[in-house]
Amino acid sequence: MRIGIIGTGAMAAALGAHWARAGHELLIGGRSPAKAAELARRLGGRPGAPAEAALHGDAALLAVGFDAVAEVLADAGAAAGALRGRVLIDCTNALGPGFLLTTGTGPGAARTIAAATGARVVKAFNHSAEAVWRLDPPVFPDGPLAVPLCGDDADALELVSTLVLDTGCVPLRAGGLDRADQLEAMTAFLIGLWKTGQDPRAMLPPYAAITA
Ligand SMILES: NC(=O)c1ccc[n+]([C@@H]2O[C@H](COP(=O)([O-])OP(=O)(O)OC[C@H]3O[C@@H](n4cnc5c(N)ncnc54)[C@H](OP(=O)(O)O)[C@@H]3O)[C@@H](O)[C@H]2O)c1
Repeated sequence: MRIGIIGTGAMAAALGAHWARAGHELLIGGRSPAKAAELARRLGGRPGAPAEAALHGDAALLAVGFDAVAEVLADAGAAAGALRGRVLIDCTNALGPGFLLTTGTGPGAARTIAAATGARVVKAFNHSAEAVWRLDPPVFPDGPLAVPLCGDDADALELVSTLVLDTGCVPLRAGGLDRADQLEAMTAFLIGLWKTGQDPRAMLPPYAAITA
């Protein structure tokens, strides 16, 4: 596949490394040409601007802070419909002080991006830390990490499922984009526990206990 990666930070580097290894052709879009060139050199892709990456290939990963997303989408021509129908992968966490979402009680990040672009947005890769995405592969004693996906378009979900498998993880179909708000809120909750030294896995009973 041909994948645009918007951003040159931790998530861009971690996910981009898996996708480059899987043979995908990457365009790394950075506002800093030097950082884009450096990451493209490391991953074996081509550097460009964020707007170029947003419009590149089969899908684009938004790997910038949520507060930067509106500017990136505007530069890519969202208002004129340039992103309509594109597959956009949203890994953002709009996290503010107190581990609360800056999107508040309104539409979450993924739904905001979909409304601004008309793109086929898939929420994915937001629920776990960059250190986990850097593992090759993110597989633990009880199996590979599951990656919850929320989106409304079957083809877009299929494409992102392939990109999940390419990281060594397994896709977990978690519903439509209307469920992305829950995934975003759940992630904020998890981050609040992790960052205060508590293990959220301890609160989850085994699946068999729930289904017994
Ligand atoms: N880190 C994690 O563990 C993690 C896990 C899951 C999800 N996420 C989410 O993934 C997204 C990226 O996180 P990250 O950790 O990769 O962040 P990061 O390492 O800080 O990188 C952020 C990237 O966004 C770029 N950027 C910032 N403002 C911009 C703008 N106005 N226009 C264009 N590019 C801009 C930065 O460019 P410069 O270098 O030029 O500043 C940098 O390349 C965030 O939404 C975050 O919530 C992060």
